[in-house]
Amino acid sequence: MSIVIISPGRDVSSWVKTFNKFDPKIDIQVFPDIRDKESVELAILWQHPKGILKEFPNLKLICSMGAGVDHILSDSEIPLSLPITRIVDPGLTIPMTNYVVMATLNHHRQLYRYQSNQKKKVWDMSDPELETKVGVMGVGALGGDVIQKLKFLGFSVFGYGNSPKSNTDYPYFHGDELPQFLNNVNLIICMLPLTPLTENILNLDFFRKCNKGTYIINVARGNHLVEDDLLTAIGEGTISGAFLDVFRKEPLPQEHPFWNSDKITVTPHIASVTNPNSAIPQVIENYKRIKNHKPLLNQINQILGY
Ligand code: GLV
Repeated sequence: MSIVIISPGRDVSSWVKTFNKFDPKIDIQVFPDIRDKESVELAILWQHPKGILKEFPNLKLICSMGAGVDHILSDSEIPLSLPITRIVDPGLTIPMTNYVVMATLNHHRQLYRYQSNQKKKVWDMSDPELETKVGVMGVGALGGDVIQKLKFLGFSVFGYGNSPKSNTDYPYFHGDELPQFLNNVNLIICMLPLTPLTENILNLDFFRKCNKGTYIINVARGNHLVEDDLLTAIGEGTISGAFLDVFRKEPLPQEHPFWNSDKITVTPHIASVTNPNSAIPQVIENYKRIKNHKPLLNQINQILGY
């Protein structure tokens, strides 16, 4: 049995070491140095070259290296019969929530205003808290934790997702209830999975339905956001600013206007980075489960895309 790690351009030596630590009997091959394609039964992927999986005739399971699976499902040659799992783990959830809480509090307590005032030696005690009603789009493992922690901090929090949900302990909207959801909030956190339904969801039409001055945090995927539309919406004052960790093209190109916008904060896709120590045990467990025909942990629905 062999596992292949396919993550071009990324140093995966810590993944190999960690696999060896947990189970030295597992043979690990790292793309592009593949020794024996026939022996590969499990592929761990991050931005793999499309179509490559058909070179592994005995593949039984595909695991994403992270929480998202859009990078896998965008490969049209992946057979529907192959199960796909993602990482769900406190090592991803807690850093993500901390990042979102940090971005929310920075906006709510206007850290940037005080940093700028400090440079000018301005002592301005007016309006110390912005009224902030939070809308979380995507209420799965990551979004659900953000909602609970922001509620704990005393924020009014509203959720939005694709499917109906009952018994949530927060107001929840789904599907075409988007306008009602937007009506209730003035800070939006995008934590949606990237699917054909959610791609480009943060566009000018969406922004114009938001309450004036709404603030945007995007920690999901760059392709949720139409970047030029955000600049237009900020220019017209519909949107007051944005805190962005993900971009359509990463690294964000040097000439991109987001770098120089004083209304936009840019971080380099670091909100939550998979920790091999906590992720690998669930990959190994899933490998054992597939061998023993048992239900998999964190298997995604390939039709829904998450
Ligand atoms: C990161 O973006 C992930 O999907 O884990």
